Order: sequence, then C-alpha cells, then structure tokens
Amino acid sequence: MLLGNNDVKIVGIYDMPGIGKTTLLQKIYHELRESNQQGGGDPSKAVIYVNVHKEPNIGSLQRDIAQQLCPIPAEDGPSDAPSPEIQQARTLFMELSKNESILLLDDVWEALDWKKIGITSPSSERVLCKIIFTTPLRQVCIDMEVGANSVGIGFLSDTQSWELFCHKVNKLVDDPSITPERAVVTLCGGLPRAIITMSDYY
Ligand SMILES: Nc1ncnc2c1ncn2[C@@H]1O[C@H](COP(=O)(O)OP(=O)(O)O)[C@@H](O)[C@H]1O
Ligand SMILES: [Mg+2]
Repeated sequence: MLLGNNDVKIVGIYDMPGIGKTTLLQKIYHELRESNQQGGGDPSKAVIYVNVHKEPNIGSLQRDIAQQLCPIPAEDGPSDAPSPEIQQARTLFMELSKNESILLLDDVWEALDWKKIGITSPSSERVLCKIIFTTPLRQVCIDMEVGANSVGIGFLSDTQSWELFCHKVNKLVDDPSITPERAVVTLCGGLPRAIITMSDYY
C-alpha cells in the first residue's frame, strides 16, 4: 500500500465534502500512533495531524506542526511571541531533518508551498517527511504534483449506505418498519454525511 512504501513521499486523498476524508485521515493518525506506541513502528518518528482549513496562514500552520514535534510550554514569556515565518521554517526544517516524521494535513484547499513552510530542504525540493493530505479538490493533487499517489474515496455502495442508515437509526437491516426509508437512503447517493443527516429525522 502507498503508506508503507518508502519511495512514496506524498499521498493526496481527494473527494467531495462529506465523503469521509477527515474520518479516514484520523483513522490513519490513530493507527500510526498506536503502532508506534506498541513497537510496530519507530517511536522516534513523530506523527503530526494538522487541520489546514480553507485559507491557510503559513505562520499558524508552522506553529501547529512545531507544537506537535516539540511541544512549547505555554508560559515561556516574551520568547513565546510568534517569530517570523522564515525563522519558523528554519526551525521546522531542522526538527523534521532529525527523523522521518509523518505529517497528516486535513482539508487542504489550495496547493501549499512546502519550502515556505519548512518541509523541504532549502537547497532542493526534497520533502523531509512523509505527507498525507486530504482535499475536496482534485486539482490540488494535480497542483501539488502528487501524480499516481492521489486517491479518490468514492461513494458508499447501496449495501454500505443501508447498513450505515440502519446503524444510525438503531435498527436491524431487515427490519420491515424502515423499508420505506430505503428510497430516502438511495437519494443520498452513497454520501455518508447525507445519510447521517437524514437518519437524524427518524
Ligand atoms: N465509511 C464511513 N462509514 C460511516 N460513516 C462515515 C464514513 N465515512 C465518513 N462517515 C461519516 O460521515 C460524516 C462526514 O465524514 P467526514 O470525514 O467529516 O467527511 P469529509 O472530511 O470528507 O468532509 C461524518 O459524520 C463521518 O463520521
Ligand atoms: Mg473533512
């Protein structure tokens, strides 16, 4: 799989909002953390999860990453004040160079400049850590040159959709009392968020 392949540095997970990108990324995060803690992975490798949001601010993105790499005490006095972005990029670069971290970036809406953030070496385009990001826009995967390592999530099948609905309304899949709701679930088109929203009405 893409995650286990050392040659794959960047993986992009794309698809429309509500399809399950954040859910999948969080699952990957917890599995990587657990595997590190149980000795299946390398405990020196940091696993970092950052929500990027629609209009990312490089400074706060850097701080979110740095905070998980090397937590900064809150009561650090004046030195705790935000340093210039370029300074933070250097610090991040040094920290990320120490070991091969895994950076999970959720909800990226536009191509990010790795060099500006401090994720690539200043002298080359080499990315210092493995990056897995999610985006609602396939174009972001293209702009970030993810190539064959971009993965679409895809809709739930009819069976999966019905199972999700029944689970949410706390009924068995063959309960005749909810048979009419099958049409409603079909209208949700296999989108988990739509199915969950509709299930709230029952
Ligand atoms: N495979 C799935 N099975 C069941 N529920 C899911 C699945 N994927 C996502 N969900 C649910 O659907 C909703 C939307 O998922 P989310 O991960 O926030 O989507 P996205 O990040 O793509 O907008 C959440 O409530 C989540 O729990
Ligand atoms: Mg999301």
